[in-house]
Amino acid sequence: MVDRPANDAPFRVLRDVELGHGVIVNSFTNLYGCSVGDETRIGPFVEIQRGARVGARCKIQSHTFICAGVVIEDEVFVGHGVMFVNDKRPRAVREDGEFQTEADWELLPTLVEPRASIGSGAVILGGVRIGAGALIGAGAVVTRDVAPGRTVAGVPARLTERGPS
Ligand SMILES: CC(C)(COP(=O)(O)OP(=O)(O)OC[C@H]1O[C@@H](n2cnc3c(N)ncnc32)[C@H](O)[C@@H]1OP(=O)(O)O)[C@@H](O)C(=O)NCCC(=O)NCCS
Repeated sequence: MVDRPANDAPFRVLRDVELGHGVIVNSFTNLYGCSVGDETRIGPFVEIQRGARVGARCKIQSHTFICAGVVIEDEVFVGHGVMFVNDKRPRAVREDGEFQTEADWELLPTLVEPRASIGSGAVILGGVRIGAGALIGAGAVVTRDVAPGRTVAGVPARLTERGPS
């Protein structure tokens, strides 16, 4: 673990982040309470929340949101503007009108296995597992597990006829 990214960039927040060697973190990013493995590259306008884990040699493209409960293993590609989701039935407030706290909702964990790729603008609902080497089409909404090596696309995401080449 090291105490800073491999590059300099203005306007980024890194708070309580476990960083591997050679990590690139671009400007306008907000990373807190998470871990990022060796040589991973984080594009601008990315947020990675507390408890999320990103492996080594990943590419996280701009405008992506990686929430608590997400584990991304090594050499995964995450396209631009990918949204992970961890709360199936979100509410701002409880029945009594008070804001919800962490005790008031169930976090659904998500696993992305090595060398999977997630296309731009995809939404990954909580509680799914994306298998090793799988490919998620741009704009897909992934609602179920994706088997290793398979390609899915659409809303909801379904298998395409062809696998990845
Ligand atoms: C899903 C994907 C892998 C399919 O590629 P492919 O197998 O070469 O598919 P084709 O382009 O031959 O299209 C096959 C069919 O799927 C449809 N299709 C392709 N991509 C789609 C997508 N993302 N969502 C929904 N349908 C899609 C096509 O319209 C076509 O439909 P048709 O047969 O009814 O005409 C690819 O289109 C994709 O979305 N890749 C992700 C790219 C990306 O986001 N990169 C990020 C950084 S730039």
